[in-house]
Amino acid sequence: MKAAITAVAHNVPPDVYDNVWFESKIDTNDEWIKTRTGITERHFAFEGGVTDILLPAAKSVLEQRGLTPEDIDLIILATITPDRVFPSSAAILQRKLGATNAWGFDLAGACSGFLYALVTGAKMVESGAVKRALILGGDKMSSILNFEDRTTCVLFGDGGGAVLLEATDDDTFGVVDHILRMDGRGEDFLHQKAGGSLRPPTIETVTNREHFVYQEGQAVFKSAVKGMADVSFEIMQRNELTADDVAWLVPHQANLRIIDATADRMGLSRDKVMINIDRFGNTTAGTIPICLSELHINKKVAKGDYVVLSSFGAGYTWGSVLIRWAIDT
Ligand code: ACO
Repeated sequence: MKAAITAVAHNVPPDVYDNVWFESKIDTNDEWIKTRTGITERHFAFEGGVTDILLPAAKSVLEQRGLTPEDIDLIILATITPDRVFPSSAAILQRKLGATNAWGFDLAGACSGFLYALVTGAKMVESGAVKRALILGGDKMSSILNFEDRTTCVLFGDGGGAVLLEATDDDTFGVVDHILRMDGRGEDFLHQKAGGSLRPPTIETVTNREHFVYQEGQAVFKSAVKGMADVSFEIMQRNELTADDVAWLVPHQANLRIIDATADRMGLSRDKVMINIDRFGNTTAGTIPICLSELHINKKVAKGDYVVLSSFGAGYTWGSVLIRWAIDT
């Protein structure tokens, strides 16, 4: 038995902020942001939490399958910007959705959070432990961005998405294979300095602006290019797939140059690479479900297509997941 994605949806806050918006606040410009990252605009929600972003997507996947909230057995919510430290955002979303039969938890895998959650959920479905798993990935990055730091604030956006995982008897569909990796030495280069148990909030941590994303961009860039390209190539090789066999690469949307390097390593032409970083920026755990949802809505992915998902993020965490698309177009 395999677990297959049977529905997918996404949601982003309505308010759009283009690159020019930053020019009055920090020393930056549209040209730098576009050429270094590929980003043109992003969505921010300065009110509400991550569950407010994800709830419409959760409702939509249920609607697509004609299910009620009570039909969900498990909720895994990947985020690094939960509504609160506790209870989990999975629990908050469960209440808002009315998924009274579901248990669940949050998963903090940063930009790889959705892939970690997808694989974990798939294993739960494949084992027969749960019948239907709701897998969500999303972040309200505006809540941890230092809008005075030009090296980070222009990179991110708010948004997320959801997929429904259900058992399929046809083993050729669904989540086919995965490679997930982690290297904790990455902490030095990408982290949030304060707010956790190591450095609880104080007036000093707030004054020093320690509750925001800290990133050493070049170090992360180098590891991301190698990490994402390696696992994406490896998953093709060990499944004996050539570039012709792969319908889509759905990469984490952190930087267009990292995406290009991954596609080159896989030998994929640009028309097989899902890109929407220009419109959403880096929504951390949200990028991959948003990409999948847009591919589905625009009828660009067909039943039976091989799709390679790939990501790199804080931790470091990275990985690739091979899926065979199971939804009729
Ligand atoms: N506008 C104008 N200039 C800027 C800006 C800006 N917004 N930001 C930085 N610069 C300047 C720098 O200060 C530097 O100036 P200097 O040469 O005078 O010192 C110059 O531009 C070059 O800066 P670099 O950091 O070398 O630029 P780079 O080409 O490396 O691009 C970037 C920076 C976009 C951050 C890139 O390194 C990157 O994408 N890194 C990887 C990001 C990533 O994948 N993160 C993982 C996921 S995120 C997560 O998990 C939460």
